Amino acid sequence: MSSSEDHCYRLLTDYANGFMVSQVLFVACELGVFDLLAEAPGPLAVAAAVGASSHAMECLLDSCVSLKLLKLEMRGGQDEDMAFYGNTEMSRVYLSRVSPTSQCSMLLYMARTTYHCWGHLAQAVREGKNQYLRTFGVPAEELFTAIYSRSEGEQVQFMQALWEVWSMHGRSVLTVFDLSLFPLVCDLGGGAGALAKQCRCLYPRCHITVFDLPEVVRTAEEHFSLSEEEQIGFQEGDFFKDRLLEADLYILARILHDWVDGKCSQLLERVYQSCKPGERWGPLLMQLYSLNMLVQTEGQERTPSHYHALLSSAGFRDFQFKKTGVIYYAIVARK
Ligand SMILES: C[S@@+](CC[C@H](N)C(=O)[O-])C[C@H]1O[C@@H](n2cnc3c(N)ncnc32)[C@H](O)[C@@H]1O
Repeated sequence: MSSSEDHCYRLLTDYANGFMVSQVLFVACELGVFDLLAEAPGPLAVAAAVGASSHAMECLLDSCVSLKLLKLEMRGGQDEDMAFYGNTEMSRVYLSRVSPTSQCSMLLYMARTTYHCWGHLAQAVREGKNQYLRTFGVPAEELFTAIYSRSEGEQVQFMQALWEVWSMHGRSVLTVFDLSLFPLVCDLGGGAGALAKQCRCLYPRCHITVFDLPEVVRTAEEHFSLSEEEQIGFQEGDFFKDRLLEADLYILARILHDWVDGKCSQLLERVYQSCKPGERWGPLLMQLYSLNMLVQTEGQERTPSHYHALLSSAGFRDFQFKKTGVIYYAIVARK
């Protein structure tokens, strides 16, 4: 076998075995291995705690060692060496439930829901549609009603899973633009309020309301009780049917990817109708400078979207607008 054939075969084997790696991770989370090992170091203790076979548990823990999810130390016992397993940095930070950056609920959601749906990938490709009904026997015309109707526990876990991702990425997403210009914020389909909570921390002067389905708002209030000081409002409703509250900024985090184009357009049109016109009023300095232009020239100061329209109609594309921190904005557009 040539070295390139050898490489291809290894790659093929890695691809084929990929599901086993995911399963080891999922099952170790499901059995609470990472939390138990923080307290009890050996395979026997962990197996006993979850009522599992000690031999099988040892195999699982050894696989976790190879995947760097656990570390292993052999210590001398009375008659023979004893295996002591412990959490690695990765499992301590992401796989222990007590860690503020724990991803356990996301992994459990993937194990109990996503993984099973992937089992029907061939049918999904043939039919070009999701496999929720085939996987769980629940019709998915209304996808979220289907997810939430499985059980209250599943609903809490799904919401917790969505929350966990923002513990990792919320700050980066919320600081890529300066949102301090938007006093009233509505997080549409904001779930339990994970992103809203971070938005309040980063922009303490904004007033933020999470808008979501009634069952989600009830579960958020019951299981994710955000403290009074966090000052996050919740409003129940269906964003396709009910009146949206007026806001300067709407957050649609991981919302549009759930829907076909027609429904995305429907939702965006509703958001457009409710959105307060913002930049036309602009900061005071811009109004004064516009008056300054009025009294001296035939021109005016313009908003970024006004410049965008002018540049696009001249044929420019890739419009980029940036605040500079001083009184002038900078705009670049390409031919
Ligand atoms: C994929 S989750 C995203 C949640 C949150 N934005 C995040 O990024 O973590 C989609 C959210 O939209 C909500 N949702 C789905 N259909 C809705 C509807 N018709 N009206 C209001 N909220 C809806 C779901 O309950 C869920 O919280």
